[in-house]
Amino acid sequence: MLEILNGFLDRTSLAPHGICLLWRPELIWTHVVSDAIIALAYFTIPIALGVFVTRRRDLVFGWMFWAFALFILACGTTHVFEIWTLWVPDYAAEAAVKAVTAAASIVTAILLWVLLPRALALPSPAQLRTANAELLARVRERDEALAALHEAHAERDRAEEMLRQSQKMDAIGSLTGGVAHDFNNLLGVVISNLDRIERFLPAESGARHSLRGALTGAERAAALVQKMLAFARRQPLQPVRVDPNRLIRDLAALLRGALGTVEPPEMVLSAQVWPVCVDANQLENALLNLAVNARDAIQEGGHAVIRTRNVPAAEAGMIPALQGVDHVAIAVEDSGRGMAPEILARAFEPFFTTKAVGEGTGLGLSQVFGFAKQSDGHVEINSEPGRGTTVWIYLPRDRTELSSSHSGGEVTRTGRAPRLGYA
Ligand SMILES: Nc1ncnc2c1ncn2[C@@H]1O[C@H](COP(=O)(O)OP(=O)(O)OP(=O)(O)O)[C@@H](O)[C@H]1O
Ligand SMILES: [Mg+2]
Repeated sequence: MLEILNGFLDRTSLAPHGICLLWRPELIWTHVVSDAIIALAYFTIPIALGVFVTRRRDLVFGWMFWAFALFILACGTTHVFEIWTLWVPDYAAEAAVKAVTAAASIVTAILLWVLLPRALALPSPAQLRTANAELLARVRERDEALAALHEAHAERDRAEEMLRQSQKMDAIGSLTGGVAHDFNNLLGVVISNLDRIERFLPAESGARHSLRGALTGAERAAALVQKMLAFARRQPLQPVRVDPNRLIRDLAALLRGALGTVEPPEMVLSAQVWPVCVDANQLENALLNLAVNARDAIQEGGHAVIRTRNVPAAEAGMIPALQGVDHVAIAVEDSGRGMAPEILARAFEPFFTTKAVGEGTGLGLSQVFGFAKQSDGHVEINSEPGRGTTVWIYLPRDRTELSSSHSGGEVTRTGRAPRLGYA
């Protein structure tokens, strides 16, 4: 065995490969340079493959790259021996390296063929891109569906909240209206009897003085009861044809007083505003209530604006409460402190006030609400803390024919009967 190995390694009877090339320098050096470059290239490729496989840990069939690296490394070594054997007849060592290369290449080739169907089954980058795009489209669709679902939920929550709010207002309205109705009748009796007694008492007497105090208290109570009735939509109204712009201009002095400003309030009154058919006194009351609220809101700075504009049926569709009918919108806007959401949610409730005890009844916005509703209109508040408040009163456009003119010309009575009376 040792003998066979010694015989295999024996190179005494062998001649270097250069002899075959007759030591012609051009042949020798062409071989040397070419083999050197090939060997160098073959040695660097496994390094690149090694770096690639170690960095890309997610690579499928990574071991195949290592088999390639080994095979190419062996090939590079055979080229080194090609150079070496030009001068040294080490053909046994060269044969051994070639044998290793042969084994590595045949194993790599077999593995490659075995692997080929599985490699072909892998999705190509183009297929991956398409699948990715489809996935993205599905994710987008799902996101859109989710957003629509959230929007629908939010819409339903809003509708439920509005229903709850309107049911609450109806319940409070019934209660307030019932109480106010009876109190109003009783106060009527009290005031008329106090009036009658006053006539029998001597002027400047102590008794008459006390009676006047009682009368003033009863009248203030009656005024409160009127506001409660207004909220409960049980106020006797006397609707007349009203030009909103004219009514507001005529009210300018009172509005200025209510706002507590030196100048009359800024008015942005749209030309050709339609007439409305409402109780002019109650509309004035509503505007004064809003002006007082605006004054309180702008105490630390700000200004108020009164606006009017037509809301045609097409536009009215945006506000469901307007039921697609022509309306006139009247707004009292202020740039004051605004309302926090929890205040805004309760602002129309009777007796809800943020003012100190004795400073506000909390019936101002209730009157506005009740008046608008009783006039077949609607009222809305837009308010943001620190940015101000706008209260919009929407009143239906009056389409009745003119019948007779009010003496001042600013309001014109129609044939329409008062909406609601009570005894
Ligand atoms: N323009 C406004 N800016 C900020 N908050 C307002 C405005 N208008 C109303 N509010 C809030 O709504 C609450 C209820 O208003 P409402 O007019 O019904 O009663 P009030 O003003 O408190 O009392 P009263 O009207 O009897 O003086 C107020 O206390 C206030 O907190
Ligand atoms: Mg008020």
